[in-house]
Amino acid sequence: MRGGRVGFVPTMGALHEGHLSLVRAAKAQCNTVVVSLFVNPTQFGPTEDLARYPRPFERDRDLLEKEGVAILFAPSVEEMYPAGELTRVNVEGLSEKLDGRSRPGHFRGVMTIVSKLFHIIEPDVAFFGQKDAAQAAVIRRMVRDLNFPVEIVICPIVREPDGLAMSSRNAYLNHDERQSALVLHRSLMRVEDEFRAGEKSVGTLIASAAEVIAQEPRVRLDYFEIVDPDTLDPVQQLEHPALAAVAAYVGTTRLIDNLILTPRK
Ligand code: PAF
Repeated sequence: MRGGRVGFVPTMGALHEGHLSLVRAAKAQCNTVVVSLFVNPTQFGPTEDLARYPRPFERDRDLLEKEGVAILFAPSVEEMYPAGELTRVNVEGLSEKLDGRSRPGHFRGVMTIVSKLFHIIEPDVAFFGQKDAAQAAVIRRMVRDLNFPVEIVICPIVREPDGLAMSSRNAYLNHDERQSALVLHRSLMRVEDEFRAGEKSVGTLIASAAEVIAQEPRVRLDYFEIVDPDTLDPVQQLEHPALAAVAAYVGTTRLIDNLILTPRK
């Protein structure tokens, strides 16, 4: 039974505290919480990890039950794409930035499935994580451009005690890779420290971050960028809040992390 203000948390399952923080935010703000659990094939590239993406359905279902989630929507691929996928949603220009540049077609797949889920669930408000900062920017823009009557709430990144951003893909890391993965957070911390100490040149900050990442031989940098959080365009000087975002391969696992740099008034 759904009623009152409906909050929606779309997920691909393999739930962790980051997802549960979205569920709790939804519970705090809404009368009914709906969670979807669907590993969406159209947002994976041909050489990506669709086949091995973790799918611990029973564990996820139990976690959501414990959180008091009213409705779990876990469709099959055939149910979501009964006639294939001829109609796609693309946020031109934005979809090709940051992760969209490294993962061609990724955001088109995400926007298509999120649109479909919004039509099926008809939520009043939907909750996404700040860890996927580029995804958040593309969703905000899609909702605005297509007049979806859905409020978008972006919740803070949830981290392990040592700083690693929670991600379903952390499960792929072996012990050594798990240690090396901390360098993503360290690179962001270095940038934040230098920024707080007065450094405003984006070029200098990015060079420092790259230097930190280069110290970890198991890690291959995909990008480190400092961009406008809405347009995802690179900024040169830090006069306004900016998104510092990093993506890197730890072994074969691609991880992302970010923080917002806010100049003091
Ligand atoms: O952020 C995710 O987990 C996915 O991209 C989403 C929004 C559930 C769409 O498949």
